[in-house]
Amino acid sequence: MGRKIGVLTSGGDAPGMNAAIRAVVRCGIDKGFQMYGISRGYEGLIDGEIQEMDRRSVGDIMQRGGTILRTARSKRFMTKEGFKRALSILDAFGIDGLVVIGGDGSYHGAWELAKAGIQTMGIPGTIDNDLACTDYTIGFDTAVTTVLDAIGKLRDTSSAHERTVVVEVMGRHCGDIALYSGLAGGAEEVLVPELPFDLNELCRRVILSEHEGKLHSIIIKAEGVDIPSHELAHAIQERTGRETKLVVLSYLQRGGSPTMRDRLLATRCGARAVELFEESDDSLTVGTIDGRIEAFPFEEALSMKREFRKDLYDLINVLAK
Ligand code: F6P
Repeated sequence: MGRKIGVLTSGGDAPGMNAAIRAVVRCGIDKGFQMYGISRGYEGLIDGEIQEMDRRSVGDIMQRGGTILRTARSKRFMTKEGFKRALSILDAFGIDGLVVIGGDGSYHGAWELAKAGIQTMGIPGTIDNDLACTDYTIGFDTAVTTVLDAIGKLRDTSSAHERTVVVEVMGRHCGDIALYSGLAGGAEEVLVPELPFDLNELCRRVILSEHEGKLHSIIIKAEGVDIPSHELAHAIQERTGRETKLVVLSYLQRGGSPTMRDRLLATRCGARAVELFEESDDSLTVGTIDGRIEAFPFEEALSMKREFRKDLYDLINVLAK
C-alpha cells in the first residue's frame, strides 16, 4: 500500500481550486498513493472530516468554481491545542503527506505542519495574487475576467449618464486585481494599496478629462486602499460636481467557472505537487516563475518580496489620458 496523502483547501475559495484537487487526486492515485480529501480546511482537519478519494470523486468538477472540499479560515488551528489535535488526527489516519491549496495565511499553517514533520506541499490558490513565489495564483485570472466583464457593463451605463463610477475590487493588501483589470479594462484611474494616492490630484484629472470630452470616468479602487470607498465616491462627487456611483464587486469576484489559464495553472501545480512527494523529502510550494513550474521551501517562499508592477501602473496613466 502506498503513502497516504491528504489534500485540503483553505482560506478564501478561488476559481480553479477544484481543478487543482482533481489533478492532485488523480495524479496521486496514478502514482500508487492513497488519497484523502480533508473538508473545511484546517477546521475539518482538527475535526477529523476526512474521506478517501477515488478517481470518480473528482469527476465533473474541473469547470466549477468554489471548492468541493469546502474551505474555512481556522482560528483553532492557530492555537496550540488545535494544532496538536490536527497532528494527532493525521497520525490516526496514517496521513504523512499533505497538499494545502490556499494563499498566504494557509501557507503559514502549512509551514507549521512541515516543521512538525508532516511533508507538506503548497499550491497557490487565492484570487489576490499576493504570493511572490509564483507568477500568478490560481483564481486571479478568473477574478480579473469577472471584473473586466463588470467594467464593460459599467462603461455603457456611465457613458449614457455621463457619470463617474468607483469600482471597488478585492485583493486584501495586494493591488493586482485592480492593476490588471484597470489596465486590461481601460480604466481612467486605478488606486492600489502599494502606492500613495492624492485625492486632489485624482479629482483634478477627472475634471480635466471631462473638459476633454470624456463621457465617463471609471476608477478602480482596491479594497486595501486606506479610505472607505463610499467616502471616496462622495468626495469625488463633491469636488468634481459630476455624479459618482459606487459599485462594490465583492464576492462576485470569487465565484464562476475558472478560465483556461486558471485551470491549466491548477492542473500543472497539482500534478507537480504530487510528483514532489516522490522526488523530495522536503516540504515545498509549487508555482510558476516565468511560466515554468518551480518549487521553493516554505521559508524561502514566504520571505520573498512581491514586486509591484509600477511599469504597468504607469502605462494605465499614459493610456487613460
Ligand atoms: O483572500 C481572498 C479574499 O477574497 C480577499 O480578497 C478578501 O479581502 C477576503 O478574501 C475576504 O475574506 P472573507 O471571505 O473571509 O470575507
